[in-house]
Amino acid sequence: MSSSDRVIIFDTTLRDGEQSPGASMTKEEKLRIAKALERMRVDVIEAGFAIASPGDFDAVKTIADTIQDSTICSLARALDGDIERAGEALAGANSGRIHTFIATSPIHMQHKLRMEPEQVIEQAVRAVKKARSLCGDVEFSCEDAGRSEIDFLCRIVEAAIDAGARTINIPDTVGYAIPHEYAHLISQLINRVPNADKAIFSVHCHNDLGLAVANSLAAVVAGARQVECTINGLGERAGNAALEEIVMAIKTRHDLLGVHTNIETPHILSTSRMVSGITGFPVQPNKAIVGANAFAHESGIHQDGVLKHRETYEIMAAEDVGWNTNKMVLGKHSGRNAFRSRLVDLGIDLGTDEEFKAAFARFKDLADKKHEIFDEDLQSLVTETLTEE
Ligand code: KIV
Ligand code: ZN
Repeated sequence: MSSSDRVIIFDTTLRDGEQSPGASMTKEEKLRIAKALERMRVDVIEAGFAIASPGDFDAVKTIADTIQDSTICSLARALDGDIERAGEALAGANSGRIHTFIATSPIHMQHKLRMEPEQVIEQAVRAVKKARSLCGDVEFSCEDAGRSEIDFLCRIVEAAIDAGARTINIPDTVGYAIPHEYAHLISQLINRVPNADKAIFSVHCHNDLGLAVANSLAAVVAGARQVECTINGLGERAGNAALEEIVMAIKTRHDLLGVHTNIETPHILSTSRMVSGITGFPVQPNKAIVGANAFAHESGIHQDGVLKHRETYEIMAAEDVGWNTNKMVLGKHSGRNAFRSRLVDLGIDLGTDEEFKAAFARFKDLADKKHEIFDEDLQSLVTETLTEE
């Protein structure tokens, strides 16, 4: 199944994203975000963890009953009660998925689950079968796969596929993996698990070492065809892989990656702002794709290049992710060309060459005192220059 060139985008902003300390959302807020994700054509929306609380159940149910175009998913531990609750919440979904998981790393099995590896396989199989009895679409995750042993992973993945899981997720739960290592893990699983062709391999990377997006892309190169991610990279600890970065990397580097997603990218910025507004988690200015400076240029050399040809310093169009345009920030690094171009845009008379030179000199003086020169500053600066002449 991994031979397809489409990467399924599985958004978990409403589940793993919400697990970020301080990011909890009301049912109404979750529904607004789910509608924005649907509009953006996200394939799978993980709406919550139905067993976690009555409020979470209600949110998953409301989203499942409302959203038509995306698959709605609920997380469930590999326990009957969790799976039944997930099935109940998803009953009204146009397309529902139960996502069940159990930990597979030695440290988790020994210290958290206190179970033998054979018992973990048995429980995983029972859980997948139970989920399949309630829902045709079942995903199985090997929690902490990034620190699990490959032979054991191969066995549990094969058993989960035999039991009916059609998506196999390999999370780097603690953000420990390095790209080439994680890619190797994915390709080994795809090559060694005998029934691997019956499932889509999925990745779910955390950002503890700042590598969540890089690891996800390396896994795609190795054959993964579902990426789990969140808007603005929201998530536990340092967060999850950022949806906007995954999607735009896949779009921008199609030449190398050879895959695509179905995401309507012009809706990215508004969705990012909605999530930031609802959670109260600001987006840093230099955040890729959605940060205020992501398409802003201040250096004179860059501004001059972009004014001559955008692609000198831009690898994608700001408009493709929802910005009105790129942005030339006038500051002390800006040059004559950017200054002139802004005056022309504002319809300000440039005056004679001498007057323009004087205005530019005043602009540089002012720029040494201020971080950014705004349009109003320019207007008064040029007017003053002209009246003094
Ligand atoms: O990080 C993780 O392992 C998870 C699983 C529950 C998929 O969020
Ligand atoms: Zn996670």
